[in-house]
Amino acid sequence: MIVLEILIFTILFWIIKYFWDHRRFYYLASKIPTSAFDFSFSGIYNYLTADPKMMLKLVNGSFDNKSDIAKTWLGHVLFIIANNPDDIKTIFNAKQCYDKPSFIKFSAKMEKGSLFGELEYWRSHRKVMNPFFGYQGLKAVIPIFNEKTKILMKSLECMVDKEAFNIFHNMTALTLETILKVMEYDVDIQNQEAKSRDVFIKNLENFAKVAFLRMFKPWLHPNIIFKNSKLYKVQQQSMSNCAMVFTNDIIENIRTNTNNNEDEKSKSFMEAMLNPKNNFTDNEIKHEVHSVVLAAQDTSAIASSMMLLLLAIYKDVQQKVVDELHQVFGKKRDTPYIEFENVNELVYLEMVINEVMRLYPVVPFIVRQVDEEIVLGDKYRIPVKATVVVPISRIHKNKKYWGDDAEEFNPERFSKENFAKIHPYAYIPFAKGPRMCLGYRYAMMLMKIQLANFLMRYEVDTDLKLDELEFGVQVTMTVCQGYMIKIKDRKY
Ligand code: HEM
Repeated sequence: MIVLEILIFTILFWIIKYFWDHRRFYYLASKIPTSAFDFSFSGIYNYLTADPKMMLKLVNGSFDNKSDIAKTWLGHVLFIIANNPDDIKTIFNAKQCYDKPSFIKFSAKMEKGSLFGELEYWRSHRKVMNPFFGYQGLKAVIPIFNEKTKILMKSLECMVDKEAFNIFHNMTALTLETILKVMEYDVDIQNQEAKSRDVFIKNLENFAKVAFLRMFKPWLHPNIIFKNSKLYKVQQQSMSNCAMVFTNDIIENIRTNTNNNEDEKSKSFMEAMLNPKNNFTDNEIKHEVHSVVLAAQDTSAIASSMMLLLLAIYKDVQQKVVDELHQVFGKKRDTPYIEFENVNELVYLEMVINEVMRLYPVVPFIVRQVDEEIVLGDKYRIPVKATVVVPISRIHKNKKYWGDDAEEFNPERFSKENFAKIHPYAYIPFAKGPRMCLGYRYAMMLMKIQLANFLMRYEVDTDLKLDELEFGVQVTMTVCQGYMIKIKDRKY
């Protein structure tokens, strides 16, 4: 009996101590309006068992709030949802919010020495990497974008006038091959037999899925993943193979082919990583290669696939894009070599890309950790260790900032004069501020080159209807039915 009393007393003591130590955290949290959707009790079961489709519903449900700022709890984790562009501007630019929550720092493997990891690494690594993703760095990789896109055009010839197929697989192979070649590792994935190509990609996807799981369900062991609410084991072997084999090869390749001279200016991203003056350890290089490959490959492939699917649905918009391409490159089926300067001439194509990413952002929301108290919504002090959520997919469709037709597809919103009237933080597919997407210029340029080539050569069609599309979220937002398109040779 005495033992039980001591036990109860000890537990009570620790509970009281915990709340006393965190009294400011809970006090400040209590002042913030509660979200329409509260995960803490009723939602927790749904959350734990959610498949990608359900996950998107849950996430969107928690953003459906009349107020511009709201809180929701997941166990003891406090989420603050900032649903207005002024607060989003503060979050993206305040140094108190540069950090990612600890649960997002992926698996233990990625925690140290990666751009997605600790803040101290992020600062110094990002400084080294930034120049290679700016305009000068991109100019150097335009030939790779052209070369790899041409391979796709050729490999699609066998699909002309055939049944609908999921273009996402081809786009994944293309974007993966492209980013690997940018890292000076030339592999032939696109021309591989579909079966082995898909195994390679599947391995990479598994790696990403584990990263995803650790992000949202950090208490689970990383080699158990949810699929349609059922647990199954990722083959640890293939996962680490895919992640490690090519990074080892990449590093070895660069080591043998460059001088690594401290005094010489690095000419490429990989040379900079291996330059002794930048002090990257081998492990840090590996983690950064993983980070960039994972961040680059899935996102760009989803975005390009979604563009093609929508252009297949909106035939009039497809025709306008093609008219612009003909103006810039002339009327010919042969895929053009797209120079850096040509990319800026494709104004209407860029408007279409922006409109697709507004309605269907690849990354539907992002999270940051509050490291020092910060004021949002003019009056709410957000406590240290709260996780702020930026609901990209909601802000992109908010009628207050986009008008009553916010749900409709209309690329004209992105004409120079129309877009000038929009709050700059109401359109944030790549986030903004110092921690925005490292590869946003890369992604925009790559998408333009891919789509321009594709549409000059092929006409795109689909049997899918817009209102039938279902979406799911696994870090990125994807179409559950697949990006099923049909292609025909464009008539000239
Ligand atoms: C359509 C394609 C893409 C979209 C929509 C996209 C979107 C994003 C978003 C929303 C973030 C999160 C920023 C945050 O948490 O605040 C991000 C981060 C990042 N992206 Fe992208 N991205 C795309 C393509 C790429 C490409 C092609 C690369 C590399 C070549 C890349 C590399 C990165 C990296 C390294 C980060 C982490 C940046 C940091 O923490 O400093 N992304 N991206």
